[in-house]
Amino acid sequence: MELLVRAAAAAAASSSPHPSRQLPRGACVSGPCRPRPRRPGSPSLRAAAAAATAVEPETKEQQNDTSETEVFACPVCYEPLIRKGPPGINLPAIYRSGFKCSKCNKSFTSKDIFLDLTVTSGTKEYTEQKPARTELFRSPLVSFLYERGWRQNFNRSGFPGLDEEFHMAQDYFQPVAGGILLDVSCGSGLFTRKFAKSGTYTAVIALDFSENMLRQCYEFIKQEDTLLNANLALVRADISRLPFASCSVDAIHAGAAIHCWPSPSNAVAEISRVLRPGGVFVGTTFLSSPRNNPFSVEALRPLRMIVGPVNTSYNYFTEGELEDLCKSCGLVNYTSKVQRSFIMFSGQKPY
Ligand SMILES: C[S@@+](CC[C@H](N)C(=O)[O-])C[C@H]1O[C@@H](n2cnc3c(N)ncnc32)[C@H](O)[C@@H]1O
Repeated sequence: MELLVRAAAAAAASSSPHPSRQLPRGACVSGPCRPRPRRPGSPSLRAAAAAATAVEPETKEQQNDTSETEVFACPVCYEPLIRKGPPGINLPAIYRSGFKCSKCNKSFTSKDIFLDLTVTSGTKEYTEQKPARTELFRSPLVSFLYERGWRQNFNRSGFPGLDEEFHMAQDYFQPVAGGILLDVSCGSGLFTRKFAKSGTYTAVIALDFSENMLRQCYEFIKQEDTLLNANLALVRADISRLPFASCSVDAIHAGAAIHCWPSPSNAVAEISRVLRPGGVFVGTTFLSSPRNNPFSVEALRPLRMIVGPVNTSYNYFTEGELEDLCKSCGLVNYTSKVQRSFIMFSGQKPY
């Protein structure tokens, strides 16, 4: 196990914050509540990308022009961020850019390999402890092990496996092909990479609260040129405070995540807020019967030796609760697929 710990530390240390290539320009989100996603490469999208070079102080008229604006928004006031640097939703462009809230002036940088858009980004004294179900995944060791056995363990509870889960999610996302996809609580990016490689989306944004998961995500990305060249961004954010403008994202995927979130209701409300009309949310989780559950006290007991006491206070839901939650957050056309303890569920933002 000591070997694994060393390997995890080495993996984290080797994360270069300097993506080596200049990648093609990526997308910039379209403006207020527009129902239909655009196809990749459409002229209006290219125009939007060009418009993203909002570098110098703008005139009053420019500030008021929200028809095409930065996809990222301030997590404090939800106003669009102004970017100083090259445009595009890709790693080098974001790494070279500084972002500032157009309203409160809070600034955000990509000092690490991800853009930190948490409310606490830049704080010097203040730190905040999240519930154990969030903190557990911030550990370098858990982040390292996640795709190296931990996630595969979910199959015992009925999860169909990565390829099948990906295809199932892609079916749900068909109506929003060509749009911007947000892979929230992406972990080590196992689905992010599949979504980015599929070519289905204009841009893919991988989001997680765990710095180490995002570093691990980058470790995997940099092993593949196609991914380094993709319109793919890594963002640190809290699911309860999504740093995106309302009605700005077409597709949101949350694999095996809702049971880890501090407040699922705040999170789904945020998902509903940032989805564009017609936008689709797809999530997977364990149903509340904890039998064969890899997060059960029994399954996690060996981990105590490695990462210390493990709190198993995950939120598990029944099928009815998940549907009720999605509906109460304004999502419609709820559907789900169940296999033992596994559920994939989906809801849509109404037009
Ligand atoms: C079990 S992993 C799921 C990873 C991946 N999506 C999958 O399908 O396997 C749960 C993820 O949720 C993230 N998470 C927990 N609390 C979060 C929060 N408040 N905001 C964003 N992500 C959070 C964790 O960091 C972790 O990467």
